Amino acid sequence: MSPSSTGPEDRYTAAPFVPDGAGLDALRRAAAGCRGCPLHRDATRTVFGEGEAGARVMLVGEQPGDQEDRQGRPFVGPAGRLLDRALAEAGLDPADAYVTNAVKHFKFTRSGPGKRRIHKAPSLRETTACGPWLAAELALVEPELVVVLGATAGKALLGSSFRVGEVRGTLLEREIHGRPRRLLPTVHPSSVLRARDQDREAAYEGLVADLRTAARALAK
Ligand code: URA
Repeated sequence: MSPSSTGPEDRYTAAPFVPDGAGLDALRRAAAGCRGCPLHRDATRTVFGEGEAGARVMLVGEQPGDQEDRQGRPFVGPAGRLLDRALAEAGLDPADAYVTNAVKHFKFTRSGPGKRRIHKAPSLRETTACGPWLAAELALVEPELVVVLGATAGKALLGSSFRVGEVRGTLLEREIHGRPRRLLPTVHPSSVLRARDQDREAAYEGLVADLRTAARALAK
């Protein structure tokens, strides 16, 4: 189907599931029943954001992974552990952050003899469908800074022309859902884990350097 057609995928949206005037707890409960796109069918559960309304920094990843889907919490698997280490090195306390994903359900394929669940990137339509949850989280948390982790989060917040390599480490000021926001894009921590052995340390240092820019922006 062409990107401009109006097939069933174009009607994917979480909007009818997002309650008006809800706080974070009520949003989280409502998100557990989201059927706004087909990703809920195979995932174990919705993985909603974690943290306090009023957190100074909001970290936005792509989608829950295998561990997150099992535990129902964002960034608790290998990418999350790497992210926590990088945040600490950059001087950002993960406890001060609201942590969420652009897409709230794990998308995967099964492969290999044990039919392991292998992460599959969400489509732009699935990401867009999930957008109302992210918009509601942003409106409630009102962070001073949004750290954009990778391309999917970037496209969700800044549009489909977002390219992480072009803007990583740069403090951006953009209007999002009618409100001015400060954003700091960087690579997704999984890309560090996926880097070749000889490139991994530099990739990690690059992530830490970007997060230091975020820490400095928050200090101002
Ligand atoms: N990758 C993400 O983008 N989010 C998670 O919660 C875990 C891995």
